[in-house]
Amino acid sequence: MRKVLLTALIAAAPAGAFAAGLEDLVEARRGYYKMLGANMAGLSAMAKGDVEYDGARAETLAGNLKIMTQYNIGHLYAPGTSNADMPGKTRALPAIWEDQAGVGEKGMAYVQAVNELNEVAGLDKAEMGKALQKVGGTCKGCHDDYRAKDF
Ligand code: HEC
Repeated sequence: MRKVLLTALIAAAPAGAFAAGLEDLVEARRGYYKMLGANMAGLSAMAKGDVEYDGARAETLAGNLKIMTQYNIGHLYAPGTSNADMPGKTRALPAIWEDQAGVGEKGMAYVQAVNELNEVAGLDKAEMGKALQKVGGTCKGCHDDYRAKDF
């Protein structure tokens, strides 16, 4: 009985399950960037003075960004998950798959800026602010070329 059920489940899986798998990947990918956004928002609120600068907190948030640079996001960019393949679900432009060297360069610039941010984030508000602007510029640098403006 159990065996039969299992066989039925496996037989039922392929068609729908694969599509759902890709949607999950895209959601995870967007979640990754939302996390970046959340950490950046906390840092930028301190830089702007909306929230009082707190070196320990700045260090934590900058450290989170750094930890996330070590996450290998490649598996979330499966073929078939561009905005041409899945309109309305993602803003990832097909250029990402066509120009991996270009994306890599944007990624390297970002990682470099995050490393620099980590050197100063906990020490001084003004230095943190400057380094943060640089990081923000590298986020934008990638978005300009590889993220669609709208869904
Ligand atoms: C190397 C390229 C690259 C870098 C660097 C990058 N992003 Fe993105 N980001 C993308 C792409 C591509 C998407 C679209 C993902 C999708 O829709 O599937 C995206 C999407 C986003 C989103 C939207 C997530 C959603 O809800 O759909 C936010 C927010 C975001 N990025 C913030 C940031 C921030 C903040 C930084 C810098 C700290 C950053 N990104 C750095 C490529 C990049």
